[in-house]
Amino acid sequence: MTASEPPYAVLAELTHRCPLACPYCSNPLALEPKSQELDTATWRRVLDEAAEIGVLQIHFSGGEPCARFDLEDLVAHATRAGLYTNLITSAVTLDGTRLNRLKSAGLQHVQISFQDTRPDANDRIAGFPRAFERKRRAAAEVVKAGLALTVNAVVHRHNIDHVDEFFDLALDLQAGRIEIANVQYYGWALLNRAALMPTQDQLVHMDRTIQARLPDLKGRLVVDYVVPDYYARRPKACMGGWGRRFLNITPSGKVLPCHAAETIPDLVFETVHDRPLGAIWQDSPAFERFRGTDWMPSPCRECDRREVDWGGCRCQALAISGNAALPDPVCELAADHAAVGAIAAQDSAAGDRPFTAPWKPLRRSAGTSGGKCADLTAWKTPSTNKPYSGASREGPMKMEWDGSPTSPTWRFARIKEKLPSPSGAERMAMPCWIVVLSCEFSRASRSKSALE
Ligand code: SF4
Ligand code: FES
Repeated sequence: MTASEPPYAVLAELTHRCPLACPYCSNPLALEPKSQELDTATWRRVLDEAAEIGVLQIHFSGGEPCARFDLEDLVAHATRAGLYTNLITSAVTLDGTRLNRLKSAGLQHVQISFQDTRPDANDRIAGFPRAFERKRRAAAEVVKAGLALTVNAVVHRHNIDHVDEFFDLALDLQAGRIEIANVQYYGWALLNRAALMPTQDQLVHMDRTIQARLPDLKGRLVVDYVVPDYYARRPKACMGGWGRRFLNITPSGKVLPCHAAETIPDLVFETVHDRPLGAIWQDSPAFERFRGTDWMPSPCRECDRREVDWGGCRCQALAISGNAALPDPVCELAADHAAVGAIAAQDSAAGDRPFTAPWKPLRRSAGTSGGKCADLTAWKTPSTNKPYSGASREGPMKMEWDGSPTSPTWRFARIKEKLPSPSGAERMAMPCWIVVLSCEFSRASRSKSALE
């Protein structure tokens, strides 16, 4: 089934290098080294191709995207191409000087991950001394610069009881939005599942806490929260459906339907060197494999949710059932559903155990995976830049477009020109897209009612 619509958003993994070592890192176990990263000119071409086919948002991610010295260049190029730009960062290397350069280049939104609300715990999970302090400082700079800020709180057994504090942290930082992102068990997180899985009791407590806080947060902080996979009854519509909304580009230029797609053994992925992005999106066999509903087995094939959750997550079906072409076992109608509950019960009872941390290429010498980052010393130097003088902020930041020539309205018109039949109401609700797409992009598109 070929694509009938352009993707909404692209996740540009500029690098797999990162100063942190979170045990739930979504990067693959086989990390791509610096020597294989796309150069600036190729990324520029890819950004143009993305805009050309109607992509609306570009998420600059990693690894740590700030490890790329050409980040400002790429943000400026994306902005000129009419793309909404979001920086997904650990922020430990982001100071006011660089942030103002990125803002001048056109950056519109920053998402900063926090590993915990307590400095010691945060730094332990991050594997980086004083990471919490650095993140707080960077978040303040984002707000001073007048950019939209999202706090990304990755939640697991060790910090799920601090959700209340995460809300306070986000309010304190004047973020406009918080993602309570339960760990998704792929890649490094799958490897560390027994060290990360929360208990059912913790989950129920978190849910009650969130429900109790929501009325107070209304109008102050946008909250994205969904039930974690292993305790749900219905799967999430992972990535909004395979090959329907998003594509992911790895540091070396592989074009993937999702960040974990390379775990599926029989898929072959084209790269940005092989064909233009639009052609890959349109009919690349890897995108076609699970697009739409034709591939579905029973019970998905007969299910009235088949065009709601699109059969759930292919990578999760592989990870738990051993076959990416089966229904997501998170679904209670799937044959393997009981295995999910059993894994959750077993792993959550595993007690304290060490993490297997991802590599730290920024701290290794050149020649190892990722190589050495020459700028690490500079990252440790506090910025002497004065605060951005034009900054002011009243109330929660709204992630809205400004009606400029690069606004969604303009892009929507452009999509209509280029491609037939974009789906109606959903596409017209542009300001909401920014929130919704970011949420979907964190693989968090299941409704809250799944717990009921
Ligand atoms: Fe979704 Fe398939 Fe379960 Fe239906 S049977 S809810 S389509 S995963
Ligand atoms: Fe790959 Fe869900 S993470 S389809």
